[in-house]
Amino acid sequence: MSRIAYVNGAFLPHSDAAIHIEDRGNQFADAVYEVWAIRAGGLLDTEGHLKRLGRSLGELRIRKPMTDAALMAVLYETVRRNRVRDGLLYLQVSRGCAPRDHCFPGEHVGPTVIVTVKRTNTRAANEKAEKGVSVITIPDIRWGRRDIKTVSLLPNALAKQAAKEAGAAEAWLIDPDGTVTEGSSSNAWILTKENTLVTRAASQSILNGITRQAVIAAAQGDRITFEERAFTRDEALDAREAFITSASAHVTPVIRIDGQPVADGEVGPVALALRWSYLAAAHQNSAVPHKRQAGPLVARPAKRRIG
Ligand code: PDD
Repeated sequence: MSRIAYVNGAFLPHSDAAIHIEDRGNQFADAVYEVWAIRAGGLLDTEGHLKRLGRSLGELRIRKPMTDAALMAVLYETVRRNRVRDGLLYLQVSRGCAPRDHCFPGEHVGPTVIVTVKRTNTRAANEKAEKGVSVITIPDIRWGRRDIKTVSLLPNALAKQAAKEAGAAEAWLIDPDGTVTEGSSSNAWILTKENTLVTRAASQSILNGITRQAVIAAAQGDRITFEERAFTRDEALDAREAFITSASAHVTPVIRIDGQPVADGEVGPVALALRWSYLAAAHQNSAVPHKRQAGPLVARPAKRRIG
């Protein structure tokens, strides 16, 4: 079945979907985006993604293209037309198309909206999580407003490529003070030897992940001690567990950093338990298009003891 994309009010075959060469997203990275996980036909963490989208648009003074309800109708329709059950939805909103000029165009120029959907292999993702992944560390060379989810992702793309070339799944970005900010496309976490869950506090230094926020809620439900603060690579290497969170990775354990094992180099129970707590809660709250009942999520393994 061919893929369908949404571009400014039209549903088009993916191969024909295009925007103008003078779109400001193309020339100035003057655009924001969101990535939603699609599980069992539903969009996960919708409220959080809509809220962050509104915030990103507001911070950059890009006009909201439509109401949240109208936007959700477009997103559902894109999922429906692509018949995707498990996958990822990409939404991008740019300031619009105008003759190249650094200054913003006039009010007559409206935002450009793009939505695409792709299938993902849930079983492969779960197997990857069960095995754990490696990360490398690399200096964080990004701008000072990482809290805004813009498409200005060149440093992130360079970091991810460096990770790939080193045989790792992710790059953790290191601030000049030696602390980990986040991953190139994920938030970074550790569980200390004292069983305290640690992730960097939301600030302009990181993207406040929607999965991060949901995992904080899941950890509170699981009564895990939790602290928001920066940590170093050495502290992560000395930790009991480490993991990453994002809409695509959900919760994925990290077993090696720069080739060195985290603890004994084995996947720990807390990260995996959080993965399942997160997915169960996210599935419960997921928005399901067209009143279609979501089917069961992949079977949850027997409850693991935490801590
Ligand atoms: N990335 N930090 C960065 C730099 C990110 O790009 C992402 C998400 C996250 C995690 O945010 P969330 O939990 O809301 O997905 C943190 C998406 C998945 C991407 O760019 O594909």
